[in-house]
Amino acid sequence: MRIRAAISVSAEAPFEIAEVELDEPRRDEVLVELRAAGVCHSDLTMKAVWPEAISPIVLGHEGAGVVAAVGDEVTGVRTGDHVVLSYRSCGSCPECAGGHRPYCRDFRTLNGIGTRPDGSPTMRRNGSRLYGSFFGQSSFASHALAYESNVVVVGDEIDLAVAAPLGCGVQTGAGTVLNVLAPPPESSLVVFGAGGVGLSAVMAAFASGVGMIVAVDPVASRRQLAAELGATTIDPGAGDVVDVIRGLTGIGVTHAIDTTAKGAVINQAIEALAPLGTLALVGLRPPDFAMNVQSVMSGGKTIRGVIEGDAAPREFIPRLVELHGQGRLPVEKLIRRYDFVDIDGAFADAASGKTVKPVLEFDLNSC
Ligand SMILES: NC(=O)c1ccc[n+]([C@@H]2O[C@H](COP(=O)([O-])OP(=O)(O)OC[C@H]3O[C@@H](n4cnc5c(N)ncnc54)[C@H](O)[C@@H]3O)[C@@H](O)[C@H]2O)c1
Ligand SMILES: [Zn+2]
Ligand SMILES: [Zn+2]
Repeated sequence: MRIRAAISVSAEAPFEIAEVELDEPRRDEVLVELRAAGVCHSDLTMKAVWPEAISPIVLGHEGAGVVAAVGDEVTGVRTGDHVVLSYRSCGSCPECAGGHRPYCRDFRTLNGIGTRPDGSPTMRRNGSRLYGSFFGQSSFASHALAYESNVVVVGDEIDLAVAAPLGCGVQTGAGTVLNVLAPPPESSLVVFGAGGVGLSAVMAAFASGVGMIVAVDPVASRRQLAAELGATTIDPGAGDVVDVIRGLTGIGVTHAIDTTAKGAVINQAIEALAPLGTLALVGLRPPDFAMNVQSVMSGGKTIRGVIEGDAAPREFIPRLVELHGQGRLPVEKLIRRYDFVDIDGAFADAASGKTVKPVLEFDLNSC
């Protein structure tokens, strides 16, 4: 079928919006007519570093829309369902079976090789291979082919533009708090980076009653939003961040999250931890750097990586929708809507810090 897609041709070039050919759904595939797609910082990073060998590609991994058709083997989703798209997992490897699907042994094959696992492309442009299948969706397009493991039915009540970021950024930040760190009410949490992921962590921490929540970000508008969502804020440009955190907490925080992927900030997070504290690393592609190992050792501190909030999308995203419905996860405060064709503007505003969570909306008449 003919669809419209935003094609990433190289790191520097703007997106090309073009008509392309999408396969009809195979037996295990779900065709989704997209209504909205969030922009995650990982899309920015991937556009910048995506290998030339598997370009051009259609990125996008926070899609939300309406199911238009399902293959014969698909049982859990029906035509007309409102759905959020997330990452794909196999469901049967030891990590998936153990409830930790983001660490699926087939994660890369299912989410990041630009084709189906069998090497076939889902899309073509003027007869030539066009890479896609990004996170089993490639949602910077009017339509996507997805799979039962990454399609989550969300009901008709939630605005799909608000629901779209639940598929990655919100799931990651909220899941890191609710599924991984699980800080009790008497604990203290510092979040480095008040972007889509960091503010989702702040919202989840506030919803679960964490006693002290601190957010660090150089962008004033983001600090203001973090404050509205229940955090004490710190401008890292205004002085020694670790001193300020110790001033607030006495000995340091019990929990920390790094969303900046900057070595110097990760060391600040380590230093800011109280003895036996835990730091979760979620920022993508932190560089190699000299980590403050002594502080980790002598303080008995724990550092762990977290992918996608350690969440199984089909269980966790409905919980997030419920929290949103109760007014305890106000994702709408993070988003700004853009027409799909203004994807370059959305990327620029995400990169500059102007918009926390751009969401592209699809004009049904032009798709
Ligand atoms: N682990 C995962 O599964 C997963 C999932 C989604 C996103 N990510 C990654 O998480 C990171 C955050 O994503 P996002 O969409 O929130 O990005 P974002 O760009 O909106 O947020 C990053 C924030 O860090 C702030 N920052 C920059 N320098 C800082 C400093 N010195 N101290 C404190 N804050 C500073 C920026 O101002 C920005 O607000 C990215 O690296 C993204 O690729 C990881
Ligand atoms: Zn698996
Ligand atoms: Zn993401």
